[in-house]
Amino acid sequence: MLHQLTYISSARATLLLSDVEQILQTSRRRNERDQVTGLLIFDGKRFLQALEGPIEAVEQTFSRIALDPRHRALVRLSSRGVETREFGNWSMGSHLTGPVLGKGDMIDHVDAMTAGLSDPNVRETLRGFARIRGGSPA
Ligand SMILES: Cc1cc2nc3c(=O)[nH]c(=O)nc-3n(C[C@H](O)[C@H](O)[C@H](O)COP(=O)(O)O)c2cc1C
Repeated sequence: MLHQLTYISSARATLLLSDVEQILQTSRRRNERDQVTGLLIFDGKRFLQALEGPIEAVEQTFSRIALDPRHRALVRLSSRGVETREFGNWSMGSHLTGPVLGKGDMIDHVDAMTAGLSDPNVRETLRGFARIRGGSPA
């Protein structure tokens, strides 16, 4: 049994594009080593992240992330056991939108990335986020 966790957080106002690139680089390196996979969505204001893997690795990663001063107000949205990885095999897949990042079509992208999710609540939470945040300019 694998563990799957999703959370939402708010970026610090001082966050730079280079910070996000740094976060992805670190995440991909560490997650690969820790057998953690998942997805990070950033719309210029909020982060939405899913983490999957062995429970200890996922919870340890989340504890580190929770202490990171580059974001605040973390709220865990879901935490559950899954039979297989539902977010694919990316060490950290990403979708970045917002004024500086400008990678559009968040709704379609998130719909595709969440197509394999077995829990409709988790799927709709993530899709709902994409619709609210992706639909209006920051
Ligand atoms: C939004 C966000 C997502 C992050 N995602 C991950 C992640 O998936 N894996 C990871 O190892 N670190 C992630 N980090 C970085 C961690 O907070 C931390 O800086 C990193 O793991 C290095 O920890 P250390 O300095 O204690 O070694 C993320 C940070 C932020 C702000």
